Amino acid sequence: MPKKERYMLTSALPYANGPIHLGHLAGAYLPGDIFARYCRLKKRDVLYICGSDEHGVPIMLRARKEGVSPQQIVDRFHEMIKSSFERFGMSFDYYGRTSSPVHHQTSQEIFRTLAEKNVFVLKSEKQLYDPEARMFLADRFVRGVCPHCDYEDAYGDQCESCGTSLSPLDLINPRSAITNAVPVLKKTTHWYMPLAEFQPKLEKWIAGHPEWRSNVLGQIQSWFKNGLKDRAITRDLPWGVPLPEDVARKAGVDAEGKVLYVWFDAPIGYISATKEWAIRQGDPERWKPYWQDKDTKLIHFIGKDNIVFHCLIFPAVLMAHGDYVLPANVPANEFLNLEGNKLSTSRNYAVWLDDYLEKFEPDSLRYALAINMPETRDADFSWQEFQARHNNELADALGNFVNRSFTFIKKYFDGALPPAGDPDELDRQLLAQIETTRNQMAVLLDNFQFKEAAKTMMSLARFANKYFNDKEPWRTRKENPGVCATTLNLCVQTIHALAVLMNPILPFSSAKIWKMLQLPGTPDQANWDQIGREKLPAGHQLGELEILFRKLEDEVIQKEIERLRKAQEETSPEKPAPEYLSFEDFQKVQLRTARVIAAEAIPKARKLLKLQIDLGNEKRQIVAGLAEHYQPEELVGKTVVVVANLQPATIRGVESQGMLLAVKDDKKLVLITPEDATAPGREVS
Ligand code: MF3
Ligand code: ZN
Repeated sequence: MPKKERYMLTSALPYANGPIHLGHLAGAYLPGDIFARYCRLKKRDVLYICGSDEHGVPIMLRARKEGVSPQQIVDRFHEMIKSSFERFGMSFDYYGRTSSPVHHQTSQEIFRTLAEKNVFVLKSEKQLYDPEARMFLADRFVRGVCPHCDYEDAYGDQCESCGTSLSPLDLINPRSAITNAVPVLKKTTHWYMPLAEFQPKLEKWIAGHPEWRSNVLGQIQSWFKNGLKDRAITRDLPWGVPLPEDVARKAGVDAEGKVLYVWFDAPIGYISATKEWAIRQGDPERWKPYWQDKDTKLIHFIGKDNIVFHCLIFPAVLMAHGDYVLPANVPANEFLNLEGNKLSTSRNYAVWLDDYLEKFEPDSLRYALAINMPETRDADFSWQEFQARHNNELADALGNFVNRSFTFIKKYFDGALPPAGDPDELDRQLLAQIETTRNQMAVLLDNFQFKEAAKTMMSLARFANKYFNDKEPWRTRKENPGVCATTLNLCVQTIHALAVLMNPILPFSSAKIWKMLQLPGTPDQANWDQIGREKLPAGHQLGELEILFRKLEDEVIQKEIERLRKAQEETSPEKPAPEYLSFEDFQKVQLRTARVIAAEAIPKARKLLKLQIDLGNEKRQIVAGLAEHYQPEELVGKTVVVVANLQPATIRGVESQGMLLAVKDDKKLVLITPEDATAPGREVS
């Protein structure tokens, strides 16, 4: 037998300072879980790890606000998140936490090894210090005006408005987030990861992975292009993994009050959680092959805001250490919007997993998110679409097919599987579709194309449902009992196949079907490669029928829509009514789709990009104020909407022959990209 392929899978460790919402699920968790379940069915040697990310300033700020300790905050959210993940069907082999002793040791060990290898650079510099709170103000402990977009309430590590990553000293008019005091400058020493030095090695490694998603590679290339900057990986904070004293002593620095930067220790959490898993298995060394055997495929499931950490910084740490494998792929997802608006946890504009699970089934959400996954572009979750997917696809196609096949056999065959005779053309088509569904889904899942995989699974259910109709067993039952028996036999074989095919996406429904079919064990133990090949024998007795999906009423859905609408209204300022434009005037505007063929920065124009676009029958050049919102590489290949008959203008010495349409989202610009009409030159009206 060939050696089992080994997979080490991780989903981003969620911060233990708030509950899980749909954006999290669509980004890092559902794809990881679908893939893990699929790998298990493929009988691969797979380990799927996650846990709570329990350090970092936001957790400290929350603790201060509530007047409790950071440990109390993370204890509360760790349990809460862990349990909601379980109810959602997340199948982690282990769910750890970064406040655990094993994690502290592991992080310190890796830090120490790198220090001994002289990887780090020490820098002494002046940093912001709060004289009232008597502490250094790292990251989010400082707020001030963003130097890039003038947003007044930017954090010390990032401007929420324009997305730029910042350092506290970049802020204009900084103030302490704790006391509101004006900070003073005070000298301190920190350890830096010299990422600039690692860039050539990282570039070479990434060049060996042309198969990665283009949105991931695009982001990486733009980091490379701007040149990687050294990053401080220690902080003056009272909460985190303490800086190892021996390392500090050797450097002649006082370790007191210093911790490792949260983004240094958090990804190491994957390794420490694997160690804890191994200890629990009674074989403490068993974590090693998963992280250190070069045949292991390490795959990180994350959202796009985590790309730099998983594709550049953590790999640089692993490279510098030398004993670890590097990720084989990092299929990062884009963002999920909600009813057309950006999700916002602070404004409670989100759908929280716990709330959801009180009212609906986990599988309905798993399906809706899988089939609309933000794989290559942002996606939108709408309750109406959720309802339609549940009612029309899960209930009317999949559920109905299972239900009517079962009912029929119960009623006319005493619940025993009738024998199959010679298949006719339609029978053969159904059997063939089971085979192709199995093969196609395997290719799609192995390429992290979850959306297409979900569609392929549902196509089989639809086909099977139609097969039942076309075969009219209620008629053949009297006219041609042999044909009727064959039909129902094949329906049950298809249900059996579907139970396994849908298992990664719909594990709860898969288990229900398994029970209804009275099959031994659980569907998680099934073998993917046997789908459609292993047939249930005639005479096999079926169990009790269970309804898989009950229709969702408009009323229930309307309530959810209403809640979100209120949350949105309460926080968005009223906009003045627009002036009317005559229809004739509007008709003068020629809107067309266009494809971006090239994009580049314009020297000395911080906000502008020069784009070459294809308008179908002609090429044009456009200057657009997108530089602060998009990297040039991200734009290439995108289909956009342009005003095609705008008078040409010269902007900063560059000719512009048209204008792109984009949505102003706070201070961000988001291009309008038609999803389906992707051919250039189409009229937009
Ligand atoms: N807690 C981070 C976030 O939610 C993710 C950490 S991923 C890890 O964005 F790799 F660092 F663990
Ligand atoms: Zn900004």
